[in-house]
Amino acid sequence: MNEKGNLRVAFFIRAAALWLYTGRTFCALSRQIRMNTSLEILILAAGKGTRMRSDLPKVLHRLAGKTLLGHVVDTAHALGAAQICVVYGFGGEAVPQALDDGALTFVLQAEQQGTGHAVKQALPQLADDGVTLVLYGDVPLTHMSTLQPLVAAARADKLGLLTVALAHPDGYGRIVRENGKVVRIVEHKDASAAERAIQEVNTGILAVATRHLKSWIAELKNDNTQGEYYLTDIIALAVRDGVVIDTHQPGYEWEVLGVNSKVQLAGLERIHQGEIAQALLNDGVTLMDPARIDVRGALTCGRDVVIDVNCVFEGQVQLGDGVQVGANCVLRNAVVAAGTRIDAFTLIDDAKIGEANRLGPFSRIRPGTTLARDVHVGNFVEIKNSQIDDGSKINHLSYVGDTTMGKKVNIGAGTITCNYDGANKHRTVIEDDVFIGSDTQLIAPVTVRKGATLGAGTTLTKDAPAGELTLSRAKQLTLSGWQRPIKPKKES
Ligand code: UD1
Ligand code: CA
Repeated sequence: MNEKGNLRVAFFIRAAALWLYTGRTFCALSRQIRMNTSLEILILAAGKGTRMRSDLPKVLHRLAGKTLLGHVVDTAHALGAAQICVVYGFGGEAVPQALDDGALTFVLQAEQQGTGHAVKQALPQLADDGVTLVLYGDVPLTHMSTLQPLVAAARADKLGLLTVALAHPDGYGRIVRENGKVVRIVEHKDASAAERAIQEVNTGILAVATRHLKSWIAELKNDNTQGEYYLTDIIALAVRDGVVIDTHQPGYEWEVLGVNSKVQLAGLERIHQGEIAQALLNDGVTLMDPARIDVRGALTCGRDVVIDVNCVFEGQVQLGDGVQVGANCVLRNAVVAAGTRIDAFTLIDDAKIGEANRLGPFSRIRPGTTLARDVHVGNFVEIKNSQIDDGSKINHLSYVGDTTMGKKVNIGAGTITCNYDGANKHRTVIEDDVFIGSDTQLIAPVTVRKGATLGAGTTLTKDAPAGELTLSRAKQLTLSGWQRPIKPKKES
């Protein structure tokens, strides 16, 4: 073969390879698209929640510091939903206002005509070629691993249905099976005595291809005891259309429990806190009593952390290795570095605490505060928006606000930075190695220079020079011969 022929063969082989390659990737891609059919999650949250006896819409009540609906939305995000659609009603705009983070679609269900009617309101938002998972804004604690098999079933063109066997199934929709296969759901109020004896109940949570959902919802009727459009009626329609009902059960019964009253809310709160405590114990944290800790946010702990009873952690809290937290402390959005000990009844809010500090008992650390290494803050000391450098000590009864403090400063008992003049806040600067006597007021803006000493009882209005003793104190005097007044004797 001549050179031209060789080139032609090479070209042909390359073209064939390219064709094979693109053809294959195209097939792989379309298969992937089919397998990862987009998941859209519908959260029903239009109910009134009469039994909460509250003006707040039910789904905005909080569990572990987060709204019930917020828990469900977080789970929906974690499942990788392409869209999250919330159906709201009672309470009007309060629900979208409280939750809107730009990532949610809100659909109003003006009149609550049943779960099927609620789903219907959202259907125009859902893509025909996706799968829909239906969740409930008042069922906050369902694990992701419980929901994933339902979504997988829907992607395989089955209807994934979450059911649970209850010792007391009263009030729930019952799962009716024939020869072991689900054939329909009957609501408690519509059920016969025989059906009411069924213990397997509908949790309400299900997943199905959206095109099926759309066609079945259009067929729903409200000819039942409650005059409502029941979402549960789609089960019989699915069976009619030959769609397999694939039932799954949650790992724990409480994963599918809803909140209808403050009693149920309190019950789920304890269950959830118990779960968090178990996770902390499994991570090696010592809890003096796992039944007496409340985490309302995310608490992360290093090794050998010890937490005494009745502590509350809010927002994002990080405890470094070896941190010890005494009884009855509240920590909110705080970072505490390794080796620090926080004694009882200490409050820390939006602050950074360095290594090897000692705080409390009864200290209050307020927003904007940073404590460096080896800082001691004692009882009845309040610190706000201040930076305290290594080795400084503020041990008793003081207020330090809007202050920059250097290294190895010693603040005497009852010292106050007067940072507020009634209109503006001013800063106090205290340089390294300063010693401040008890009961001193520093009238900001003011600076105490390196190594200065302030005598007890000083009212500092001007800067104190470095290395000197500065004090403002009236001269002590004694009036000799002075007599205490005496009460005149009553005449009889
Ligand atoms: C529903 C199920 C039942 C299941 C039970 C589990 C139906 C018809 N029945 O019954 O099989 O055992 O849940 O708890 O679905 N909602 C709306 N709009 C409405 C009606 C309800 O958003 O028009 C929301 C509610 O806010 C609530 C949820 O849907 O979060 C369930 O509604 P609810 O009326 O409590 O249904 P159940 O009668 O309990
Ligand atoms: Ca209910």
